[in-house]
Parts: sequence; structure tokens; C-alpha cells
Amino acid sequence: MCIQSGELVIISRGKLYGKVREKFKSLRVYVIVMILLAGFIAGAFVYGTMIRTYETRAVSLRTAEIQNQCTILSNQLLSYQYLQDHSSEVIEASLTQLTNIYNGRVMIVNQNLEVVKDTYSLDEGKTNVSENVVRCIQGESTDYYDKRNRYIEVASPIKDPDTGEIQGVMLASVSTDTIEDSLRMLSSRGAAIFVLAIILILGFAFLIAEQIVRPLRSMAAGIEGVTEGYVDEVLHVDGFSEMGRISTEFNKMLGRFKRVDESREEFVSNVSHELRTPLASMKVLADSLVTQENVPIELYQEFMEDIAKEIDRENDIIADLLTLVKMDKTAQNLNIRQMQINELMELILKRLKPIAEKKNVELVLESFRPVTAEIDEVKLSLAISNLVENAIKYNRDNGWIHVSLNADHKFFYVKVADSGIGIPKEDQEHIFERFYRVDKSHSREIGGTGLGLAITRNAVIMHRGSIKVHSEAGTGTTFTVRIPLMYTGGSLA
Ligand SMILES: Nc1ncnc2c1ncn2[C@@H]1O[C@H](COP(=O)(O)OP(=O)(O)O)[C@@H](O)[C@H]1O
Ligand SMILES: [Mg+2]
Repeated sequence: MCIQSGELVIISRGKLYGKVREKFKSLRVYVIVMILLAGFIAGAFVYGTMIRTYETRAVSLRTAEIQNQCTILSNQLLSYQYLQDHSSEVIEASLTQLTNIYNGRVMIVNQNLEVVKDTYSLDEGKTNVSENVVRCIQGESTDYYDKRNRYIEVASPIKDPDTGEIQGVMLASVSTDTIEDSLRMLSSRGAAIFVLAIILILGFAFLIAEQIVRPLRSMAAGIEGVTEGYVDEVLHVDGFSEMGRISTEFNKMLGRFKRVDESREEFVSNVSHELRTPLASMKVLADSLVTQENVPIELYQEFMEDIAKEIDRENDIIADLLTLVKMDKTAQNLNIRQMQINELMELILKRLKPIAEKKNVELVLESFRPVTAEIDEVKLSLAISNLVENAIKYNRDNGWIHVSLNADHKFFYVKVADSGIGIPKEDQEHIFERFYRVDKSHSREIGGTGLGLAITRNAVIMHRGSIKVHSEAGTGTTFTVRIPLMYTGGSLA
């Protein structure tokens, strides 16, 4: 039973702690508590200092006052020779006055430490050897504040002003009740002001917390709106500059998403269009065969050949699309290996040579130096092959293609220069886009999907390289690829 109840306590305490922690996760609560805490500490400090300062000051003033009175009285004593003859009425009166005003007790002790006068009449005739009196006899006036018993004790030497000889000690102890009373009043008033200040600070804290939290809340609502699908909404937060920045960055991100979305839509519509074109041609060809009667076998054959070509084209597009999609997907897992680039280039050109020869295009490779680099063989081969294929396809009869390989200490460079039809300036910035072709009808004739350069660019970027084109219409084109010799992984932009 006992253990059980103990567990219960622990569990509920844990829950409470959890709840408190949960609350503290709220920025509003956090800000309020922090401001309140700061206010409390500052208030308590001011309050404490104020009380203490008042007390010290009041006590030291009172002490000085008593000391003054004692000095005056001492002089009077001496002039009436009170220490020798205690019958002076004047002195009696002065002593009574002093004790009345300050609500205290005065003792006069002579050189032999004998109490000659006690206004309380308790110690008269006795010997006083208290430390204060002894020290005072040696010429040192002392004072002492007993806070607990609420009195100040002052010991003042009775000193002959002419000879400087100490003839006795005047011991005055006065009550500090009045100081204590003022202090109590001050405390209660101070406490009231303190509570009032805390209430004000609490209100203030609520206001500040609200001001901080409001833009955040509206930002959260804005983001929620965007997530729920009002994609066109941009975030407007006028508040602190930090929050303004967050909303600017968010809007930028949103803009990027929108662009990605648009380009995806455009891509899908392009894909559909591209896939449909060969189908439409086939449909026309097939229809015309079906609707005509007595079609000669030669026409059948011719049309069927055309249909077969369209099927090939459709296949090419699908194959390129798949390559492209795969590239996007595997951007993170390149199969990087240290490779001899010279050999790789030779291999690529050897494979493409027959196609070049068919068009009577001269294909030469110039390697300036041996190059080894960390690359993905398949992807880089594809990239370079596409460039050389283009150089063959868009060349003139009896033209030339000049492929060169060079390197510095950081990168290697592959240049593919041709003597072909060239690319007009206005098209150069678009040729890397998917499905973009400069001359649709011409490249259709030559055959091409418009995806080759997009694939090449992707492959190059995956290697953290760059690709540039330099071309003049009618003269020729040069593509320059730059790839780092050492692959530095990490996330791709
Ligand atoms: N070496 C080149 N000379 C002239 N034009 C080129 C060359 N390379 C690419 N182009 C132009 O860029 C377009 C895009 O190339 P690419 O993406 O490889 O598609 P395609 O399948 O048409 O070859 C081509 O259609 C062509 O108009
Ligand atoms: Mg191509």
C-alpha cells in the first residue's frame, strides 16, 4: 500500500512537471514568466536596499546625536565637578531631560570604574568593567547597535578640556523603537508598492507577450492556409524585422515550390504532347490505308515503313524520358569511381565513329594530357555521347568534329567542336530545356527527342560540373564541359 501511494505521488508529480514544461514551451508563457521574474528580482533588490539604507542612516544619525549630547553633558559635569560631588540639581535636570527625550538610560562611571550615577538607579555604587567602559577610559569613544534588543549604546569619555585627562565615562543607552516603527511603516508601504508594481509588470508582460506572439500566430495561420491549398497566398507579416525575414524567406520558398510545380505541369503536358505526335502520325497513316479501297501493295509497304519509324520514335522518346527520370531520382547515389578519362573518351568516340563515317564527318580526339578523375562512368559517357551525337546529327556533309580533353589541377575539360549548322543566339539559352529543339521540323527529320541535352546537363551537374555552349549559326558549335577531378559529395542544389 505504502509503496503504491508513493508511486502515485511520484507519477502525479511527474505529470505536473510535464505539464509545467509543456506550458513553458509556449512562447507567451515564457515571456510573461521571464518579465515577471526580472521585475520581481529588481523590485526585491530595490526594496531590500531601500529598507537597509534607511535603517543604517537612521541609526547612525541617532548615534551621532547621542554622542553630541553626551559631550555637552560631560562638559557640564566637569564644570559642576559632578564626579566628586553628585548633588548638582542642574546636572540631575539635564540627565532627566536626556533620558526622557531619548527614552533611555544614562550611567556615569568614574576613573575607578565605579558607577556614580545610574538614571535607572540599579547599578549605582557597583563597578562596571564592561569592555566598552574600559576602552573608553583609555580615550576611545565607542558605540554599539543591538538590533535584536533594539537599543544603541554610546560610551563617551568625560575629558577635561584643559588638561585632556579622562576623568570618567558616560554610558548612554537609548531605545531604537521609533526607528523600528518608521522602518515597519516603510516596510509595509514598500510591500504595497512592490505588489502594485508586480501587478503592473504582469499587465505589461501580458501586453509584450501578446505583441511578440501575435505576428507569429498570424504567420502560422498564413502558413496553414498555404498548406491547406490556397497556394497563391503569400505571407504578409509586418512586425519585428526577424519575423519579416522569416516571411520573406517563406514566400521565396513558396515561389520556388510554385515554379517547380509549374515546370512539372509543363513537363507532363510536354510529355503527353510528344508521345502523342507519333501516335497521331500513325493514326493518319493507318486511317488512310483503311479508308481507301484497293490500295496497292507498294503503298501499304511504304505506309507500314512510316508507321514502323513512328514506333521507333515513340520508343526513343520513352527511353530518353526514362533515362531522364532515373537521373533525377538517383541524383544522390552516383556510382563514383576513379577512372582514366582518356580511355573513356577513346571508347566513346570509337562507338560513334561508324555513325560519323556514314555522314562523311571527320571525328578526331585530341588528348592534351593523361587525366584521371572520380566520375560515374555510365552517366558521364552518356553526357559526352549525347554531345558528340548532336555534333554528328547537326553537322554538314564532309564536316568535322574536334573533341579535346584537357585538365588543370582542379578540373578536366571536354570540348566538342563541330562545323555544323550552329545554334542561333536566341535559342542557346533554351537548348538544355527538356523537349526544346531549335528547328522542330528539321530535327524531326533528323530524329531526336529534344531530351539529349537535358540529360547531358543533369549528368554534368550531378558531377558538380558545368556546361557551356558557344555557337554561331551556319559556322559551328562548341560545347565545353568542366568536371572536378575529385568528386566532393554532399547534397546537390
Ligand atoms: N551541335 C549542335 N549543333 C547545332 N544544333 C544543336 C547541336 N546540339 C544541339 N543542338 C540543338 O539543340 C536541340 C536540343 O538538343 P538535344 O537536347 O540533344 O535534342 P535532340 O534530340 O533534338 O538532339 C537540338 O534539337 C538542336 O536544335
Ligand atoms: Mg540530341
